[in-house]
Amino acid sequence: MTIRDVAVIGAGTMGNGIAHVFALRGHPVSLIDSDPAALRKGMDAIARNLERQVGKQAISAEDRDAALARIDAQEGLDSAHAADLVVEAIVEDEEVKTDVFRTLDSIVQPHGILASNTSSISITRLGAVTSRPDQTIGMHFMNPVPVMTLVEVIRGYETSAETHSTIVALAESLGKTPVTVRDYPGFVSNRVLMPMINEAIFCVMEGVAEPEAIDTVMKLGMSHPMGPLTLADFIGLDVCLAILEVLQAGLGDPKYRPCPLLRQMVAAGRLGRKTGAGFFEYGERA
Ligand code: CAA
Ligand code: NAD
Repeated sequence: MTIRDVAVIGAGTMGNGIAHVFALRGHPVSLIDSDPAALRKGMDAIARNLERQVGKQAISAEDRDAALARIDAQEGLDSAHAADLVVEAIVEDEEVKTDVFRTLDSIVQPHGILASNTSSISITRLGAVTSRPDQTIGMHFMNPVPVMTLVEVIRGYETSAETHSTIVALAESLGKTPVTVRDYPGFVSNRVLMPMINEAIFCVMEGVAEPEAIDTVMKLGMSHPMGPLTLADFIGLDVCLAILEVLQAGLGDPKYRPCPLLRQMVAAGRLGRKTGAGFFEYGERA
């Protein structure tokens, strides 16, 4: 199946990056967010990141303008009607996602594929609330989307071979490397990553070292491009907490219990870069 028109639901950290890469590769994109301020912020981020690529001479000014012109910012899910593929990138909450999947199922033309960028939630359960579980799949991009080459492709229990091969080929056409995994909580990426981030937060809570020192150990000692606390701020502490909760509930092992300090920071609205403060302080712009 050929994918041309794409709808991306959610214009936050991930949604704007996903819209950016599809538009740059020539796909008409409807970028949909129920919050008009988030939609504006998402469009600003796309313009800024495209400009950064122009500055690095990775793309031309014409490429930037053409990509921006292909993105149609919208507030209502109805705009996903004509999409061959919908990539959902809203909050990491199963109830909210299933609501959106139910609605999308009634809006999107019958051949349309419904993909989720979820970090951890069951693709099988999202597909089960639709009439097209065979056309439901996980297409898990990494942050920052324009830079990171992995797409974790998650096959739900009913995902068809055709849907899977379409998404694998599409990810490759975007210049990404797809890796297919089975539908278990947190898949591979976050089952391995989040326990490390959580342990770094326990180190802060227990006073083992200052955040700066913890990150330096992992950067210089293990050659990580970002320390785990900088990475947690980059991902969003609310997203990290939601993923750990899915891991704990889904795998039933106390080793995934979210650190109480993480819960406290999320409750305080200290969500990382997107709110200007997390383990570290950032400027006004996330
Ligand atoms: N859009 C476009 N280009 C961007 C960009 C963006 N949003 N952010 C960075 N870049 C580009 C820069 O222009 C630069 O390009 P060149 O190589 O052509 O110069 C390149 O990326 C590197 O950027 P910087 O030099 O500014 O900064 P850096 O060297 O510190 O790298 C980074 C930044 C790529 C983000 C790097 O720090 C990194 O790899 N961090 C780890 C990221 C990571 O682990 N992501 C996965 C998170 S987990 C996840 O996504 C899954 C989940 O479900 C939670
Ligand atoms: P975010 O909070 O930055 O953005 C979510 C956006 O969705 C917000 O702009 C919000 O207004 C919008 N939204 C919420 N409910 C909506 C609805 N019903 N209809 C339309 N728009 C709605 O979140 P994010 O960090 O971009 O994460 C989005 C998804 O991507 C989550 O499932 C997350 O787990 C996953 N993910 C996140 C990262 C990361 O590093 N942040 C990496 C990979 C995957």
